[in-house]
Amino acid sequence: MQILNNAIKYDAGFKVYNYKIKGDDRGALISIENSIDIPFEIKRVYYIFGTSSGIVRGKHAHKELKQVLICTNGSCSVLVDDGKKKHHFLLDKPDIGLYVNGLVWREMYDFSPDCVLMVLASDIYCEDDYIRNYSDFFKLAKGGVL
Ligand code: TYD
Repeated sequence: MQILNNAIKYDAGFKVYNYKIKGDDRGALISIENSIDIPFEIKRVYYIFGTSSGIVRGKHAHKELKQVLICTNGSCSVLVDDGKKKHHFLLDKPDIGLYVNGLVWREMYDFSPDCVLMVLASDIYCEDDYIRNYSDFFKLAKGGVL
């Protein structure tokens, strides 16, 4: 399978952002501004860390939620599946943001022990927005109804 990095990939449900690093001799800084560097208003931020070896997280799609995933430390990989194609992204730099929009199945895996995966989300946590069953997701992605 293809690993895409540092390449802007447009598709219906996902896109890679390469954020500008504002560095000087003291170090580096990245700033992400609502609706400028990210295509939605951020209503929630959460981060995943201390993930045990071999663990796969995610394994769901969303009905409406938009997210940008940024690995601020360490690395992990992300599978995104729009029901037609599966893509694997390696997030190993804090200047890469993977935008995932709604009805896309996602799985995060291969977490390094020091991985901190920050997620910027367009809405607060809502279990009703989750699709946790792959065959339900696949049916919806093909235009069906549950
Ligand atoms: P879960 O959805 O299993 O995480 P992931 O998709 O990354 O594998 O969430 C783990 C727990 O945290 C679960 O009990 C729901 C809760 N949770 C919140 O309370 N708020 C949040 O914003 C998120 C993402 C999860």
